Amino acid sequence: MKIMKVENYQNMSEKGAQFILEKLINREVNVLGLATGGTPVGLYEHLIKKIHNKGLSLSHLHTVNLDEYIGLAADDPNSYHQYMEDVLFKHIDIPSNNAHLPHGDAENVTYECERYEQLIHQLGGVDLQLLGIGNNGHIGFNEPGSPFDGRTMVVDLAPSTIEANGRYFKDPNNVPRQAITMGIKTIMDSKSILLLASGVEKAEAIKELIEGEVSEKTPATVLQKHPNITIIADEEALSLVNKTIV
Ligand code: GLP
Repeated sequence: MKIMKVENYQNMSEKGAQFILEKLINREVNVLGLATGGTPVGLYEHLIKKIHNKGLSLSHLHTVNLDEYIGLAADDPNSYHQYMEDVLFKHIDIPSNNAHLPHGDAENVTYECERYEQLIHQLGGVDLQLLGIGNNGHIGFNEPGSPFDGRTMVVDLAPSTIEANGRYFKDPNNVPRQAITMGIKTIMDSKSILLLASGVEKAEAIKELIEGEVSEKTPATVLQKHPNITIIADEEALSLVNKTIV
């Protein structure tokens, strides 16, 4: 586990964008796993600027997102489809057919989970998966108690997640109660992982991730077992970690 400590959100975002850019330039990453939430917004902003500055074409790239809310169509303003369109896809030249997310409005969500898992397999797996972390240690939408051997599946969101994500909805009561998420095993199969964390509200989860006992009670602890994970976190997010990180 490689941990990079940075001063604040801006530094985290810039460093994270540079990390991804270099791997895109040298074609180490052809299938990029993407995350949503507030944390990666700054990274996407920096990445777009860097891609434009380099004149880099991403017409060959495939992206796969971690998750999507059940019941929200792609054009719903609160869907992760729409989020990705706004913060990244419309600013770069990735073909729309190459940008994949689970369909939250699929008629048969069980079948949709299988389709998505199969798709990742057909693409040859994820080269680099970007992750944020929930305050309760969730990754993707794998809430506490999720099985470490889980593949893409339908999940019930924890009350604390529904509350935390309410801030992105006009009416916080409209946060869907379920989502489709890549499973923990799907995430762990990624060849490399970049996890971002900023702010004191993530400090408990980051302490567990780095120093806690590996347990399904805190999904992110499974990442201790990943052979190629980099964490970029700011001082606040690392404030409860005992071991010295420079
Ligand atoms: C959401 C997403 C996660 C994300 C997490 C943290 O529930 N499904 O992928 O990492 O919450 O979100 P934020 O970055 O807004 O704190």
